[in-house]
Amino acid sequence: MMNHSSQPLLFLVEDSPTLALLYQDYLRNEGYEVCHFALGRPVLEALPERLPQVILLDLELPDMDGMEILKHINEQGLPCSVVVITAHGSVDVAVEAMRLGAFDFLTKPFDGKRLCTTVHNGVRHQQLSSLVETYRDNYDRNQFGGFLGSSLPMQGVYRIIESAAASKATVFITGESGTGKEVCAETLHNLSPRREQPLVVLNCAAIPRDLIESEIFGHVKGAFTGAQSDREGAAARANGGTLFLDEICEMELDLQSKLLRFIQSGTFSRVGSSKQEKVDVRFVCATNRDPFAEVKAGRFREDLYYRLHVIPILLPPLRERGEDVLQIARRFLAEFAKEEGKRFDGFTPQAERLLLEYDWPGNVRQLQNVVRNIVVLHAGPRVEVAMLPPPLDQLRPKFAMPEPGEPMRAQPQVSQAIRPMWQVEKETIEQAIAQCDGNIPQAATLLELSPSTIYRKRLAWAASAQE
Ligand SMILES: Nc1ncnc2c1ncn2[C@@H]1O[C@H](COP(=O)(O)OP(=O)(O)OP(=O)(O)O)[C@@H](O)[C@H]1O
Ligand SMILES: [Mg+2]
Repeated sequence: MMNHSSQPLLFLVEDSPTLALLYQDYLRNEGYEVCHFALGRPVLEALPERLPQVILLDLELPDMDGMEILKHINEQGLPCSVVVITAHGSVDVAVEAMRLGAFDFLTKPFDGKRLCTTVHNGVRHQQLSSLVETYRDNYDRNQFGGFLGSSLPMQGVYRIIESAAASKATVFITGESGTGKEVCAETLHNLSPRREQPLVVLNCAAIPRDLIESEIFGHVKGAFTGAQSDREGAAARANGGTLFLDEICEMELDLQSKLLRFIQSGTFSRVGSSKQEKVDVRFVCATNRDPFAEVKAGRFREDLYYRLHVIPILLPPLRERGEDVLQIARRFLAEFAKEEGKRFDGFTPQAERLLLEYDWPGNVRQLQNVVRNIVVLHAGPRVEVAMLPPPLDQLRPKFAMPEPGEPMRAQPQVSQAIRPMWQVEKETIEQAIAQCDGNIPQAATLLELSPSTIYRKRLAWAASAQE
């Protein structure tokens, strides 16, 4: 686990007690929390538990070569800076350590000031690299769990899933049909500590009303006609894992009360039995209706709604995800072409424009079907406008047909989620500056731009804002 206290944590790995005491004195004075190790093995054992910002590592240890620790940190990609301490005159060793990913080295003997400056730089380096990591995680994701897509609205969804995964709190997923609600439930489960236990999916709309209670809670033999033996329900099967109640708004009111009791107490009884059973499940539910409208219409219990609506996740419709449409379409094309044994290598620019212009009422599922249809019915290698199945073919007249030999002129209307590049760029740059506490050179380094580029751009934005 990463150390979150305000004092930076250091591991000092030094077998000489006198030197260790001396270094600790210097470093504690500078406000570092120092954890001392006289041997190497305990360091390797401690690392999975507590990760320091900096490891000050003497390479000559009684029980192992300090280089092994460095190798381990490097191989595991652990985000901490290692400063190695080498004996006087061992330049080769220092070079080898740097090659293995050490951040810096100190050659004995060194004074307290040199020690503190090097450690300070190490802490700073570690903080910056973790900032870069967060930055990449937050802005560069074009795939997350079972989702494809890198649009801003989806980045928001990914961040909520990531934060909610570890908790047991109930997640309520809404979104139009085909937006990926089931993908969302699976991703949540797979990122959670419950991932080794089952994810049990119960589709409340697909099960006949008189069977649904038994599907959730199970039944005992003879509970109703047809109950020929005891049967476990979804609640028991999901013990330790996640219970995904899909299309939750289709559940009848009396069953909603039973569900509420189950959620509140974690206990239930099978149909036909009064024996209470207790389980530990995490609830995730989904609907493509507007759940609050269902509450107002009296079809969904208000108390159940509030009990379930702890962490809401709204999946945006595909038409609001900008270029994700193309990203997903290209991936499906490659996948289906492989499955069908066909050779497809992409879409023509005109076909791509149509995919972007269309409003996808059936969202990702519809896109999946459209691409499947194309792959099955055509030979490739390029998907052309003429191959797009209904209702996408209806969009074609919006294009002025080019005269023979003349390029296509009309510009199709582009989906609203696509914003001008300068706006996206401005937002990214301003966010980076804010994260670096206003330090423009630092933000520039992280963005891999020169500071003067940022200054120039900011001047241009300010000027155009005044126009
Ligand atoms: N972002 C995405 N990237 C790749 N595939 C996706 C994405 N979103 C959804 N899909 C795929 O689209 C199909 C529909 O997704 P899913 O079943 O999760 O949608 P849903 O919201 O539950 O739909 P419904 O409301 O109809 O139940 C699935 O095959 C799923 O794998
Ligand atoms: Mg679904």
